[in-house]
Amino acid sequence: MEETFRAMYEAGDTPWELHRPDCNLIEMVRDYHIAPGPVLDIGCGTGNNTIWLARHGFTATGCDVTEIAVRQAMAKAAEAQVSCTFLRLDFLKDAVTGGPFAFLFDRGCFHSFDSAGDRRRFAEKAASLLSQEGLWLSLVGNRDEIRESSGPPQRSALDIISAVEPFFEIQLLKSNFFDTNRDSAHRNWVCLMKKRA
Ligand SMILES: C[S@@+](CC[C@H](N)C(=O)[O-])C[C@H]1O[C@@H](n2cnc3c(N)ncnc32)[C@H](O)[C@@H]1O
Repeated sequence: MEETFRAMYEAGDTPWELHRPDCNLIEMVRDYHIAPGPVLDIGCGTGNNTIWLARHGFTATGCDVTEIAVRQAMAKAAEAQVSCTFLRLDFLKDAVTGGPFAFLFDRGCFHSFDSAGDRRRFAEKAASLLSQEGLWLSLVGNRDEIRESSGPPQRSALDIISAVEPFFEIQLLKSNFFDTNRDSAHRNWVCLMKKRA
C-alpha cells in the first residue's frame, strides 16, 4: 500500500487533495465542542486538516507513511507559519511519539485497509494512543454509494463497527459526503468514537 500511495503522490494523482480542511472536520469540532488539546491526524497527507487544527488551538501532529506527502505538509505549515509536527511513519507498524492524544482524526486512512484484521489493529492502536475518554473522528468511504466510476475505498457500517467496537463507544455514525473541489462528492461515513474506559 505504501508503494501505491507513493506512486500516486509522485504522479499528482491525489483525488482526495483539497488544499483546505474537510468541512466534516470543521463541523464536527464545532458541533461536538471538541476542545483544543493534543491531536493526531493519521494519514495526514499534505497536512490540510492538521494545519487547520493547529490554527484552531490544537497541539497538532500529523503522520503519514508517504514521505513526499510529509515533506509537502511541512512546507505548507512553514508557508502558513503554523506550528505543527509531522512524522513519517507507518501507523500500524511504527511507534507514534507525542501521545497520549485527546483527539484523533483520520480522513481516508482507516478505510484504506482492505483486511478486517488490519482495520481492527488500526482501531486498537488508535485507542492505545488516546488519553481517557479520548475521541476519534474517522471519515470513511461509504459502501452504500452506487458507483459508475472509481472513488475512495468503500466500507460498510458493519466493517467499521466490527473493527472499532471492542475499543471504542460509537457516539455518532452518520452517512454524509466527503468534502470535495469536484462537481460531485463521494458518500462517506462520519464516525465519532470515544475510547472505552
Ligand atoms: C486518501 S489519503 C488522505 C490524505 C489526507 N488525510 C487528506 O485528507 O488529504 C490517505 C493517506 O493515508 C496515508 N497512509 C496510508 N497507509 C498508511 C499507514 N499505514 N500509515 C500512515 N499513513 C498511511 C497515505 O499515504 C495517504 O496520504
